Amino acid sequence: MESLWEAAGSDDTDWNARYCAGDTPWDYGEAHPELVHWLSQHHFPGEIVVPGCGRGHDVQAIAKTGTSVLGVDISNEAVHAAQHRKASRNAHFQAGDILKPPQAWTARFLGAFEHTCYCAIPPSNRPHYARSLATVIRPEGIFLACFYMNPDVVKGPPFPTHQEELDLLFDPYFRLHREWVPSHTYSGREGRELFREYVRLGIFPAI
Ligand SMILES: C[S@@+](CC[C@H](N)C(=O)[O-])C[C@H]1O[C@@H](n2cnc3c(N)ncnc32)[C@H](O)[C@@H]1O
Repeated sequence: MESLWEAAGSDDTDWNARYCAGDTPWDYGEAHPELVHWLSQHHFPGEIVVPGCGRGHDVQAIAKTGTSVLGVDISNEAVHAAQHRKASRNAHFQAGDILKPPQAWTARFLGAFEHTCYCAIPPSNRPHYARSLATVIRPEGIFLACFYMNPDVVKGPPFPTHQEELDLLFDPYFRLHREWVPSHTYSGREGRELFREYVRLGIFPAI
């Protein structure tokens, strides 16, 4: 399943075409099990954004807890499917490029959840991705991330993810609160993911 994902992608991946073709091996049809577990013990403090939300399974799980969530994806087809399945009035979806957040989103969100969006972003765009998230999340906001760690893969997506790079890109904007390898995950992903819980810093370099 993952080899298909790796083989088909490139820097100019047409994500919408992949959703239209049903070529979405990353989509397990349900929210990430560790997110569901996290939500049973924590809550987001207010409206959050989910970049690269795909068909919206995580958005739905978060929305069910009463939190207002905006799922954003570059694929119109994914957003269309997410809207079609929408089961909570707290769940909202919008097609768009997270690397180009609208001005109105500056410091709008009290948190974010990312689930394998980072590994979909070409490495050259990752500094921009970290800055975009820092722009839209308010100081003290929570950034929960499920990073797909696949350092042996040279061709992506998924592009390789290393802890050193995560530190380099996110540390200027976020304080790492804790990190862990999830014990609840999809079959086949065991040991390949890293969850991180960050808090947006109140002071930061100019964005
Ligand atoms: C590996 S998939 C993960 C999707 C979803 N989080 C899930 O787990 O099912 C990566 C997602 O990021 C989206 N994506 C890629 N680049 C993006 C960008 N610049 N802005 C918004 N979404 C993007 C893709 O369309 C795709 O849905």
